Amino acid sequence: MAKPKKRYVCQVCGSVQSRWQGQCPDCNEWNTLVEDAGAVVTPFSARHNLRGGGQTVQLVGLDADIPLPERTSTGIREFDRALGGGIVPGSATLIGGDPGIGKSTLLLQAAARIAGRGLDVAYISGEEATDQVRLRARRLGLGGAPVKLASATSVRDILTTLTDGKPPSLLVIDSIQTMHSDLIEGAPGTVSQVRASAGELIRFAKETGTAVVLVGHVTKDGSIAGPRVLEHMVDTVLSFEGERSHQYRILRAAKNRFGGTDEIGVFAMGEDGLDEVGNPSALFLTHRGDSVSGAVVFPALEGTRPVLVEIQALTVRLASGATPRRAVVGWDSGRLAMILAVLEARCGLSFSTAEVYLNIAGGYKISDPAADLAVAAALVSALSERPVAAEAVAFGEVALSGELRPVSHGGLRLKEAAKLGFERALVPSTLKEEKGGLALTGFRTLGEMVDSLLGRG
Ligand code: TYD
Ligand code: MG
Repeated sequence: MAKPKKRYVCQVCGSVQSRWQGQCPDCNEWNTLVEDAGAVVTPFSARHNLRGGGQTVQLVGLDADIPLPERTSTGIREFDRALGGGIVPGSATLIGGDPGIGKSTLLLQAAARIAGRGLDVAYISGEEATDQVRLRARRLGLGGAPVKLASATSVRDILTTLTDGKPPSLLVIDSIQTMHSDLIEGAPGTVSQVRASAGELIRFAKETGTAVVLVGHVTKDGSIAGPRVLEHMVDTVLSFEGERSHQYRILRAAKNRFGGTDEIGVFAMGEDGLDEVGNPSALFLTHRGDSVSGAVVFPALEGTRPVLVEIQALTVRLASGATPRRAVVGWDSGRLAMILAVLEARCGLSFSTAEVYLNIAGGYKISDPAADLAVAAALVSALSERPVAAEAVAFGEVALSGELRPVSHGGLRLKEAAKLGFERALVPSTLKEEKGGLALTGFRTLGEMVDSLLGRG
């Protein structure tokens, strides 16, 4: 007999647990499990199975001529780039990001550009009144764009309105967590409401050919369902990232059924909205003139797009025997500890009486292991107060043995550095010579590089 059973749903990742726990065992977030409406559990019985009585499904081959999906440009090149070329009609796209990062601004700008080309665009805000959106549009210089605007939270009202007449080319829902479906119970923002509302909107997209873009706030406390509960339902997942205190923003594809996920779009939040940044390296490099000790430029990779960033290290000698501090911004502190240990054990440099501060300029975050060599060079330079030549970049992975390992896309990194006027690259000696105008200085081990930086023979 089927009987209702209590279940608990994580408001961040949507996993279902049979009992309440303080921490979600799937995504490890705290206090995110909430009791959900009882699910009907049908006990398994071997006497019933699904192997008969249905219709036969046609099975076909992989090779057939199918047209590539057409795409609608958003009118914003960096946005198109992250989408893989533009928005696909009839697709569902989710844009996730922290509150205040600029999702509404980006979508309003895109909506206005698309509407300006004569396409029908509906922008539904569940968070702001129409006048607030109008004010923002005016401030962005988009007041005249023929976007159809509404403030609504009932999915039934929205779809009733849009089904009346020709469906729009683009429908923006800002945000999915404010939407409410009257088919099921529960307050807006809960996992079941977010899923049900999104499901209806996605069905509308598939049936009418309207491209639907859903905004999803990422929340740390799990008080409302995060965008992760929707990731499997939509065609494309974009995340909008950045530090609110810094102006740059990165739009990154986490999933894309119509394109790759290795492209990013780079923006800067300015006085009048988001500006496209065609040359991201310029954003993260501080003014480079004279060489300063402790600063090394690293050609990072974002997908397949190189971005030059400056790594800054500072060491302060301690007089007393106090435990020295290690502080890192924008890099992994465990990895810093490892590089310090390798420098100490393999290269004879001691940081044990020095405080170490490491910072990635511009609020940028690096997770690429290729940064090891640049970080090591910055640390050695800071400790010895000998600058690394300003026209040099460095990259390579450092092994615990002190050996240097080659990294992916060396050629791309070198090309970007050459484009920005750098002349020399400190790299693992295994890196093959690339044509591109940069002189390569190869090292087999970290020790060799330290010797070279310190002028030891
Ligand atoms: P918003 O698009 O409302 O963020 P989200 O929808 O992701 O919550 O952007 C909010 C922030 O952006 C706000 O703190 C102010 C800032 N901002 C600017 O700096 N310049 C601008 O032109 C606009 C419109 C916003
Ligand atoms: Mg918003």
